[in-house]
Order: sequence, then structure tokens, then C-alpha cells
Amino acid sequence: MKLSEMNQKLLSAERLKATGRLASEIAHELNTPLGGILMYSHLLMEDLPDNDPHMENVIKITKLAHRCKMIVQGLLDFAHQECPHPKMVQVNRILRNVIGFLEDHVLLRGISIEMRLDPTLPKVAGDENKLEQVFVNLVINAAQSMNGTGVLTLRTGFAFDSNQVRIECSDTGSGIDDKHIDRVFEPFFTTKEKGKGTGLGLSICHGIVEHHGGTMTVDSSKGQGSVFTIFLPSEVSL
Ligand SMILES: Nc1ncnc2c1ncn2[C@@H]1O[C@H](COP(=O)(O)OP(=O)(O)OP(=O)(O)O)[C@@H](O)[C@H]1O
Ligand SMILES: [Mg+2]
Repeated sequence: MKLSEMNQKLLSAERLKATGRLASEIAHELNTPLGGILMYSHLLMEDLPDNDPHMENVIKITKLAHRCKMIVQGLLDFAHQECPHPKMVQVNRILRNVIGFLEDHVLLRGISIEMRLDPTLPKVAGDENKLEQVFVNLVINAAQSMNGTGVLTLRTGFAFDSNQVRIECSDTGSGIDDKHIDRVFEPFFTTKEKGKGTGLGLSICHGIVEHHGGTMTVDSSKGQGSVFTIFLPSEVSL
């Protein structure tokens, strides 16, 4: 890698961390007053008679406050990605579970799912719930990019040279524009319609994988689908 390229990567990693810190501080500050807004708007809704002319506005306030709460929760998740009590977990099993509960999801209707899981995959030290969260995010993003038709492939394998478990999530969806690809792991970066995505999914995944001592990268171009690749250190010593 050239020096300028390396500097660029270091700079964007620093920028990602600084944005993440700021975002989580803001989330902590917003969480309490937002809880108050929600509580008082619910109280108001209970007190007002159903035919009160203000009811419609109170419902709108409550809905919007719920949306803010969802964003703040995303930010708090983003800030709490540490993995305090890692256990030995089987990545293949987590992937099967994720597909098990997502396959009936409306987003995956019309999409064929291919599982190419290496049966000899060693376990990794990690937090099952957090890893599950990573895979759910990747599968949902992939499904959203395919919009009802395409192939989702989940592949695992072992990289003997680096002693790491490799997990790939590929789709045949829209792909990612060259001008966006360096930004997809940034908190709040989204190309989805206003009100649809928070842009926190991949930044949360990235943080979780880093806390597991792993790496996460993307390879994609517009119209060519996308491949997200995760490497997690394995406990197997060669
Ligand atoms: N599999 C994919 N194919 C195409 N584009 C993708 C894919 N995954 C992510 N992206 C791009 O990266 C952006 C950021 O993804 P991320 O998951 O962080 O946020 P989001 O999906 O937009 O919002 P949220 O996850 O909160 O619903 C997306 O808006 C999309 O542009
Ligand atoms: Mg997403």
C-alpha cells in the first residue's frame, strides 16, 4: 500500500472514531429528555378524549418521538460494542439461527438464500448476541439492496495463513457507487429515503467486529452486487 493511501485509511479510521465518540455523547444527553417527551405525550394521549381536536397532533408528536428514540438507541448500541465476557461460539450456528428467524421476513421473500458453510470451521471467542446483530444487519442490507429478487450467499471458511475465520455475505443487489464506498461504515451515512434508514447499521457492525479483534471490509460496485467480508481471530493455534 502506498504511503498516501495508508495515511488516507488512517485518517478515515480516526474520523470514524471521533464521529462515533461525538455521536454517543449526544445520544446520552438526548436519552433522558426524550424519555420525558415520550412519557408526557403518552399521558396526554390517555387524558384527552378520543374526539379531542388536539389528539391528532399529540399522536404525531408521540410517533416522531418514537423515531428519535430509535435513533438514540442505535447510537447507544454503537457506543456499547465492547465484548466483556466472550465465550467460544460457533459462527455457522449463529448464521443458521439468523437465517432461521429472518427467512420468513417480507424483505427476503423472492430471494434465494445460499449457505456455503465450512463444516470444519473452528470456534471464535465472542459475544453471540453481538455477532448475531452484525449478521442480521448485513442480511437486511443485502435484502434491501435486492428489492425482492436475487441471491444472498453466506459463506464461511478458515484462513490458515492468518488463523482467522472468514465470513462473507454477498448479494446480487444494487451495488455501491464508487463515490459512496468509503463512507458506508460512517455513522449516519445512508442512501435510503429520509425517515427509512438511520445509517447506523454498518457503523455498529464495524464497531462490534473491531471489538472482537476482527476486521470488516466491503467490495462492491454499482450494479454488480456487494460482498461484505469479516475476519475474526480464531483460538486454534497451528
Ligand atoms: N448490501 C448492500 N448493497 C448496497 N448498498 C449497501 C449495502 N449495505 C449497505 N449499503 C449502503 O450503505 C449505506 C449504509 O448502510 P447502513 O446499514 O449503515 O445504514 P442504512 O441501511 O442506510 O440504515 P439502517 O441500517 O439504519 O436501516 C446504505 O444506505 C447503502 O447505501
Ligand atoms: Mg442497514
